[in-house]
Amino acid sequence: MDVLDVGCGTGIAGRRFQAAERTVLGVEPDPRMAGFASARGLPVEVATFEDWQPGNRTFDAILAAQSWHWIDPVAGAAKAAAVLRPGGRLAIFGHTYEPPAAVAEPFAAAVRRVAPDSPFSGQPARRPLAFYRSEYIKVNDRIGETGSFGDPELWQFDWQQTYSSAQWLELLPTTGGLTRLRADQQAEILTAVGDAVDVLHHGLHDTRRDRRGSPHLRPSSGGRDTGHAALTTVAGLPLPVHVDGIRVLLVAHG
Ligand SMILES: C[S@@+](CC[C@H](N)C(=O)[O-])C[C@H]1O[C@@H](n2cnc3c(N)ncnc32)[C@H](O)[C@@H]1O
Repeated sequence: MDVLDVGCGTGIAGRRFQAAERTVLGVEPDPRMAGFASARGLPVEVATFEDWQPGNRTFDAILAAQSWHWIDPVAGAAKAAAVLRPGGRLAIFGHTYEPPAAVAEPFAAAVRRVAPDSPFSGQPARRPLAFYRSEYIKVNDRIGETGSFGDPELWQFDWQQTYSSAQWLELLPTTGGLTRLRADQQAEILTAVGDAVDVLHHGLHDTRRDRRGSPHLRPSSGGRDTGHAALTTVAGLPLPVHVDGIRVLLVAHG
């Protein structure tokens, strides 16, 4: 089976298909991403999907793992139809997650203070689960307009993951909204989120001012040193943050 991985990035999805003994070709416009993937054994051609020249090559399946939103939806759907073999499949998928509003709102408020132009500074805070599903429905419509695909299937996989507060605060700086901020901007946001987690679980509003001197509160051992003095509970246990997520898969039959 020949698979085309569109916007393959470092090859996270494509390499799994290789491991399942499929033949995979990646198309990726970023040469550093492409270099990373090809150094790990995934052949990659450097181009946008729109500009990529397939010649007379065709494929049994096309993947777009968290990448279709970068591609022109009309030109991309037409190109996918052109390079799929009869009965081939276009599989567009992605994932998203959202923490509870009690954590998401203080996060967005802190981003508004330190980086007001950030797309993560909105009010109310971004709630991406519903947004993602509605975006996939629009993608589905564009694919349908090509007239080249049969009825698509939309699959949704819901999941929930629990992070300790220290794990959550360690993860946040690696996410898209924070990676380009200065260390002091990140620290202000992480402190606000750490406070929100404390309040969510223990109503610690009244003690926050005294944290550094409190005999009960101490910095988390596992997480990033944010200068935040109370990332663990009074009992020293990690505070949980429950995160809801979805994975959405749109499968269109050529
Ligand atoms: C969020 S990354 C996903 C990477 C990979 N598929 C994965 O699952 O890890 C989106 C990728 O789409 C690529 N991309 C952006 N515009 C594109 C385009 N017009 N055609 C193909 N890929 C594109 C980016 O360079 C990036 O590598």
